[in-house]
Amino acid sequence: VVAERGRHKHFMAKEIHEQAEILSDLVLRSTNADRTRVEGPASEVDFSATTRLVMVACGTAFYACHVAKYWFEQLARIPVEIDVASEFRYREPPVQAGDAALFVSQSGETADTLAALEYCKGKAGQIIGVLNTTESSIGRASDVILPIHAGPEIGVASTKAFTCQLLTLLKLAVSAGRQRGTLSAEDEARIVRQLYSLPRLIQDAMTAEDEVRDIAHWLSSARDILFLGRGPMYPLALEGALKLKEISYIHAEGYASGELKHGPIALIDEHVPVIVFAPRDALFEKLVSNMQEVMARGGQVLLVTDEEGARIAQDGTARVLKMPTLDPLLAPIVYAIPAQLIAYHTAVTKGTDVDQPRNLAKSVTVE
Ligand code: G6P
Repeated sequence: VVAERGRHKHFMAKEIHEQAEILSDLVLRSTNADRTRVEGPASEVDFSATTRLVMVACGTAFYACHVAKYWFEQLARIPVEIDVASEFRYREPPVQAGDAALFVSQSGETADTLAALEYCKGKAGQIIGVLNTTESSIGRASDVILPIHAGPEIGVASTKAFTCQLLTLLKLAVSAGRQRGTLSAEDEARIVRQLYSLPRLIQDAMTAEDEVRDIAHWLSSARDILFLGRGPMYPLALEGALKLKEISYIHAEGYASGELKHGPIALIDEHVPVIVFAPRDALFEKLVSNMQEVMARGGQVLLVTDEEGARIAQDGTARVLKMPTLDPLLAPIVYAIPAQLIAYHTAVTKGTDVDQPRNLAKSVTVE
């Protein structure tokens, strides 16, 4: 077991560090040699007549669905519904033949996700499993399997499976956009070229690790931490908060920053670190003004953005984590790295059991 961890102190650290390479393989596996098209299993799923996409999962896999909702709506103009499996399975939601039902699971064995899938059998037009473990209960019950090829994930807190789920879902959204005529060949080629830059972007994001180690001392003494984002960075904020609470036991919440004034702003004082995921996308300015509202109330902001974003917005922030400049479409995948590093180093600083956090299981096979 020690050997498998290699030079890393924890499986989680190893799994965070593997991501550039694993994502690079995943890009190569599923694009053509000309780097203009998405190919492979993602392009075999037929969305041409789909009237709705229903995505269901638990935990981190659910947040991957939540990010992907933005991609499917934007690139393929498909109405998307998402839900956590434990709610979906019992609320008897109407599911129809025009629906594609998609289930995301690292283990392929999560009881609630499997039950939600069984509910959709015979109702939805097709059942898609986005899985790391394809030889699994969810794999056997799916009509189509999209493997995410993350390799074995040992750390209880999911890291590389999350980014591989995201990349797989992004490719699926691109392919759906092509089939539905909402994404031109030129736009698809542009996105595929961006995918090829992903490993370098991930490596660049990893260079923030020293800074994160330093910041971890500050974060580890907090009682509550808020994560903010807008658009697809909102579910990333939720994932960042989940990761942090899972392994550091610090209370953390993710929020859509536009919702701040509807409640969480009441929590803000100088003792609550606020982590803001701010790629320079269409909502950057709105996010910055939300962040300024936080700072005006004494909130200590950790701004995660690129060089130009820092130049524009770093005044008054407590710390800045520099990310590479990128196409906003890739931001949820690349900004997952600082989210994971923040959780990891905060937990290590606190001295918790990072790979085996209390009360949690890697795979929840009972209800
Ligand atoms: C557990 C794990 C999480 C995971 C969730 C869903 O809670 O601790 O890391 O996200 O189950 O698991 P699955 O295998 O279905 O992705």
